[in-house]
Amino acid sequence: MSAVNDSPLAGQVAIVTGSGRGIGRAHIMELARSGAAVVVNDIAPATADRVANEVRAAGGTALASSHDVSDRAQAQALVDLAIRELGSLEILINNAGSRGPRGIFEDLSIEEIYETLDVHLMAAFHVTQPAWRYMKSKGYGRVLLTSSAAGMFSYQGSSSYAVAKAGIYGLTKALAFEGLGCNMNVNVLLPWAASAARNSNPVPSYKENYDYYVGTDVPSDHWSQDPALVAPLAAYLVDPRCSITGEAFSYCRSRYGRVFVGVTNGWMTANHEVTAETIEAHIEQIRDRGTSSEPQWVFDELSGVLRRLGLPAGRKEDRERSAANT
Ligand SMILES: NC(=O)c1ccc[n+]([C@@H]2O[C@H](COP(=O)([O-])OP(=O)(O)OC[C@H]3O[C@@H](n4cnc5c(N)ncnc54)[C@H](O)[C@@H]3O)[C@@H](O)[C@H]2O)c1
Repeated sequence: MSAVNDSPLAGQVAIVTGSGRGIGRAHIMELARSGAAVVVNDIAPATADRVANEVRAAGGTALASSHDVSDRAQAQALVDLAIRELGSLEILINNAGSRGPRGIFEDLSIEEIYETLDVHLMAAFHVTQPAWRYMKSKGYGRVLLTSSAAGMFSYQGSSSYAVAKAGIYGLTKALAFEGLGCNMNVNVLLPWAASAARNSNPVPSYKENYDYYVGTDVPSDHWSQDPALVAPLAAYLVDPRCSITGEAFSYCRSRYGRVFVGVTNGWMTANHEVTAETIEAHIEQIRDRGTSSEPQWVFDELSGVLRRLGLPAGRKEDRERSAANT
């Protein structure tokens, strides 16, 4: 991207949910700096007001909203507010909700499970659906969702949170495919930053595991956990010049990376009499990551296997290219 235009989002309107503090606030400040008019949404009204005032004090345009995005009607009202008061909606960052373990799996109450799913996963549907309808009708949209390393890699005590955050990854892929050809790009962020909501993990072995896997001598507070370091990655992904869609990006302690799901080449057989024993005999080949691929969409996985069966499958342009070469 060119550094010439320092207001690349001028004329655009962005909603960031849960932006009264933490990572959401950092996203808001970054988007406002890039020229977007912003809706600072946070269920805690005083924090939303404070951040909106900060944006205005810096010369930007901001509205505060205290809609609860886990409520479908309020989420719709949030999207309506942005369009009505600021004139359009080009960017949506679903960020609301605090990270954190809920407790050991067997002790979780159904209320605790739903509470986590409602704010992290259902809210993404509630806000994105009305935003999507509007953006698609206008032929342009950038949506960024928020997953977590706890969802894609996980740790103990995080089952409901992991489900919600892994679900967000799935939603991103599904929406990105639905948005193909409509100028609707959808990506997902796995942030890692100091959080006001940091709570200790209630699972007894958490500390032992942390010490085992990470170490005993690692500072918990570090400059690399500043939420402001996450925000430029988000701003890049919602920029009109960014054409990436359906991908996951991670920030962890000063490392910016991509997270992806792959599949091993595995073991193929023409023998239909497969048993658990034959699987056991080939399990190392099935698991071997030495030869693997990263299907972008489900059809890519299918085509890859069909090609290995000798069938002429693949994306249209690849099939045409190979037909021209034969
Ligand atoms: N901090 C991390 O290291 C980390 C790691 C992985 C993922 N995340 C994800 O990043 C996002 C932000 O995390 P954070 O650390 O800045 O959290 P935070 O707790 O500091 O901020 C979250 C904000 O969301 C608001 N919120 C909660 N429920 C809401 C609702 N129903 N409607 C509107 N606003 C609501 C809260 O009031 C709060 O201000 C979350 O989705 C979190 O799961 C954070």
